[in-house]
Amino acid sequence: MKIVATRAELAAWRDACGGKTLGFVPTMGYLHEGHFSLVRESRGANDLTAVSIFVNPTQFGPTEDLARYPRDFESDRRNLEALGVDLLYAPDARDMYGEGTETWVVNRGSCDILCGRSRPGHFDGVLTVVLKLFQRTRPTRAYFGKKDYQQFVLIRRMAQDLDLPVEVLGRPTVRLPSGLALSSRNSYLTHGELEAAPALHRTLAEMRRRAHSREETRVEALTHWGRQTLEASGFKVDYLEIRAAETLSERAVAGDACVALAAAYLGKTRLIDNLEF
Ligand code: PAJ
Repeated sequence: MKIVATRAELAAWRDACGGKTLGFVPTMGYLHEGHFSLVRESRGANDLTAVSIFVNPTQFGPTEDLARYPRDFESDRRNLEALGVDLLYAPDARDMYGEGTETWVVNRGSCDILCGRSRPGHFDGVLTVVLKLFQRTRPTRAYFGKKDYQQFVLIRRMAQDLDLPVEVLGRPTVRLPSGLALSSRNSYLTHGELEAAPALHRTLAEMRRRAHSREETRVEALTHWGRQTLEASGFKVDYLEIRAAETLSERAVAGDACVALAAAYLGKTRLIDNLEF
């Protein structure tokens, strides 16, 4: 596995790939099975696979966890090597942004719903860095987890709106046997919080069961029940919504092609999860 830290080295490597197909998995490191599943998918479908590790400052709000975001480069490097990754791009903020950026990728359609509402500017940072990463890596296909469902939808939309020559693919959320979605931020949870955390997935799954069985299909009633259940399990709910799976537009009735999305705090840690109906 070749490791590069600068865009110049990355460009040289990319130029030498010739006509081979390249799969790309952008990450912020502290890698787990969720990230690895994307790498395996890429390995299976492309001649070459590149991974990036960059904790992107522009997607963190001023009071968020940028400084304490977990990092373990040595372990990430070893795991990616063992998975057969061809290239690891691990730039610093200077290589990524130089003196900073004045130009941003902004989605004006749905940047202020769900996570966009609670984290103003977050998706501007995500879309801008992902476009820069696409420009530098020039992948054939790029892999994203549906764990971050809104992020995936917005990146797919960016590729469509801006005619990016990359296929954006979303892959299923990898979970612990308890149902808890793997996340680098799970490392913030105390022992007690880790025991409470699977209630997030359980609640979404019960909402889906109720909708599928037609026991309750009104979105208002389903989300009201879900919010109460989460609060009773110790969560402070940021949002819990059911929306159209393709576009994230609002729905009054939960049916096929819907997705339930939630963000909720356990103590200071904000967890997100979602489930497609
Ligand atoms: P990060 O949180 O490191 O996630 C990198 C990729 O792994 C994302 O596509 C995310 O959805 C996926 N992922 C995380 N947990 C997963 C799980 N349990 N199952 C499946 N996939 C999972 O998302 C980011 O980084 C950043 O916003 C980034 C896109 C790299 C831009 O900075």
